[in-house]
Amino acid sequence: MNISIQELTFNYNSTPTLNNITLQIHQSEILGMIGPNGSGKSTLLKCINKILEPKQGKILLDQQSITKINRIEIAKKIGYVPQSTNTNENITVFETVLTGRRPHITWQSNKKDQEKTWQALKTLSIEKLAMRNFYELSGGEQQRVIIARAIAQEAKVLLLDEPTSNLDIKHQIEVMDLTHKLVLKEKLAAAIAIHDLNLAAKYCNKIIMIKEGKIIDAGETKTVLTEDNISKVYEIKVKVNHYKNTPYIIPIAPLN
Ligand SMILES: Nc1ncnc2c1ncn2[C@@H]1O[C@H](COP(=O)(O)OP(=O)(O)OP(=O)(O)O)[C@@H](O)[C@H]1O
Ligand SMILES: [Mg+2]
Repeated sequence: MNISIQELTFNYNSTPTLNNITLQIHQSEILGMIGPNGSGKSTLLKCINKILEPKQGKILLDQQSITKINRIEIAKKIGYVPQSTNTNENITVFETVLTGRRPHITWQSNKKDQEKTWQALKTLSIEKLAMRNFYELSGGEQQRVIIARAIAQEAKVLLLDEPTSNLDIKHQIEVMDLTHKLVLKEKLAAAIAIHDLNLAAKYCNKIIMIKEGKIIDAGETKTVLTEDNISKVYEIKVKVNHYKNTPYIIPIAPLN
């Protein structure tokens, strides 16, 4: 499935939070969304997922406007991992991941739904947590549960909002590696908002850089993650080196 966003503008209040955004997310590719805090990454993901309704512009899933697709169909097509999940709900990890199957369940969950749930738990190496209460888990454990839920959903599009922010270095790599493999195997289209430029450099095929709701640059990862672009967007000095053809970024100091 391919996603096409055309001239999208979104306002929470009088000033646009997203201003004239045009971009494509291609099947079998990971698009990294990077930019400072408050630049509009989460807002953009929420527009694609139809949680927010843009004022102007179009969002097409394989040529079809999302305004014509109902909630259940959206939930079948798009897996979404929000930036934070606040819940005091007294439900187990297993039940939390099983809710990813909800768009597929007609009356009651069946054996297949339960199997998919176990598979997703195993994929994230959290099957041992299955019977624990979700809200008792650590931040990183919760994050992996929510990723497992999106995987159990078997959607064709994955929208991940800072999926690695609470994870230790091993689990960061594990989640990004897993996403990468899944995107290739299932021909998914993925968009990931991410602050870690080095993880973005390693795993994203394309990058968009957003600042104050506008796209500053977009394209192949290597051509976007340059010293000039990063300095401009974050107002810091960086050095960009390359290792095995992948850029890696070393922050040096704030500008001036
Ligand atoms: N529900 C809301 N109502 C009003 N303004 C909002 C709302 N949600 C976000 N904003 C504002 O919109 C702008 C973009 O926010 P958004 O959450 O999309 O940024 P972000 O790029 O995801 O930032 P971060 O890197 O901190 O997660 C910010 O200025 C934020 O204060
Ligand atoms: Mg955000």
